[in-house]
Amino acid sequence: MAPEKTILITGGAGFIGSHVVRLFVNKYPEYRIINVDKLTYAGNLENLRDIEDKPNYLFVKGDIVDQAFIHDILGRYAITGVIHLAAESHVDRSIASPMEFIHTNITGTVNLLNAARHHWKGTSGEKLFYHISTDEVYGSLGEQGYFTEQTAYDPRSPYSASKASSDHLVRAYFHTFGLPVVISNCSNNYGPYQFPEKLIPLFIHNIVNNKPLPVYGKGENVRDWLYVGDHAAAIDILFHHGEKGETYNIGGNNEWKNIDLIKKLCSVMDGKLGRKPGTSARLITSVKDRAGHDLRYAIDSSKIRKELGWKPSVDFDKGLEMTAGWYLSNKEWMEKVTSGDYLKYYEEQYVKR
Ligand code: NAD
Ligand code: DAU
Repeated sequence: MAPEKTILITGGAGFIGSHVVRLFVNKYPEYRIINVDKLTYAGNLENLRDIEDKPNYLFVKGDIVDQAFIHDILGRYAITGVIHLAAESHVDRSIASPMEFIHTNITGTVNLLNAARHHWKGTSGEKLFYHISTDEVYGSLGEQGYFTEQTAYDPRSPYSASKASSDHLVRAYFHTFGLPVVISNCSNNYGPYQFPEKLIPLFIHNIVNNKPLPVYGKGENVRDWLYVGDHAAAIDILFHHGEKGETYNIGGNNEWKNIDLIKKLCSVMDGKLGRKPGTSARLITSVKDRAGHDLRYAIDSSKIRKELGWKPSVDFDKGLEMTAGWYLSNKEWMEKVTSGDYLKYYEEQYVKR
């Protein structure tokens, strides 16, 4: 029997993508899920071992920048929905080396839009191109206020500028060509399977290994943290019920100054590692600030909450405990993903700072 829907998930071997793939494969056995991922340093099939043998799941290694490859995938598997997560996602890497962000985040997105437009033209049945984006496209807030869906775009890093550009192109394909699209812009995610270059998993890794915890500047910057499972749940709702052409903000309503979050994480880790309170916090080291470091992000997610009934389900204390516990029980995963160019990259960064 033909599957009810055949969904292409890009970047499904990455952090958020792996949670979305797992959710869809397990929750919708009647769908076929095709995961296309280039397996960059951030993509890892270790993230999906538990579902790789499911009959409704297929992994295909490939680059979204490769036009012929993407056209072939959409045609060969008769894709009816795209959930597009593949991206270069780390702000610091975009400062060190912007070009890969332009290729993957902009050209890769346009390749997917072109392929969807080509293959869906004149066909019947429900189709959707769902683009996953970030709150960083809105720029930086002062101490007050929130990003709403009406906030003007003001990206300030190469990463956020590349994501803003891809959002604009997705909207352009809706208005110009009538491609059915939905976009969501989410705040900072945390949880299992996040590559240990981002704040929370990097600091867990360094605490375990008694390495310095590099706080950029004074640690005064504010981020709005959301458990990754809650983002995946929002993506499920928006894929099925989001209105075509609309944008939805997703956030945790959970703002933390970096330094306060880091101290909280240190105390959770002291407890888990049986260390004397205050031990991990002694590793905190102030380093040179990130160039163009956005001061504050805070999301107003009332649209998805009111219209579609989504809300975060994991409270931050519990989420941080679960996350710290997951990394400590999965040291082998940490070792696998931090082999390769990981240490080289970090050593180079610290020399530059
Ligand atoms: P990630 O870096 O963990 O994963 C990205 C995945 O994309 C990896 O598996 C990588 O191999 C793959 N990829 C990269 N370039 C590719 C290419 N050219 N072709 C095919 N695959 C490629 O990223 P993440 O944190 O899981 O973020 C996923 C998406 O969600 C991104 O679009 C990001 O902008 C967005 N987002 C992330 C957050 C966050 O807090 N992490 C918040 C909001 C939005
Ligand atoms: O807001 C959503 C965005 O959140 C996503 O679009 C990005 O893909 C994701 O990487 C994340 O971006 P941030 O730059 O906010 O995340 P990061 O974990 O890199 O940093 C969080 C904060 O911690 C930020 O203010 C910088 C600071 N930081 C980060 C690192 C890695 C440090 O002080 N020290 C560090 O070593």
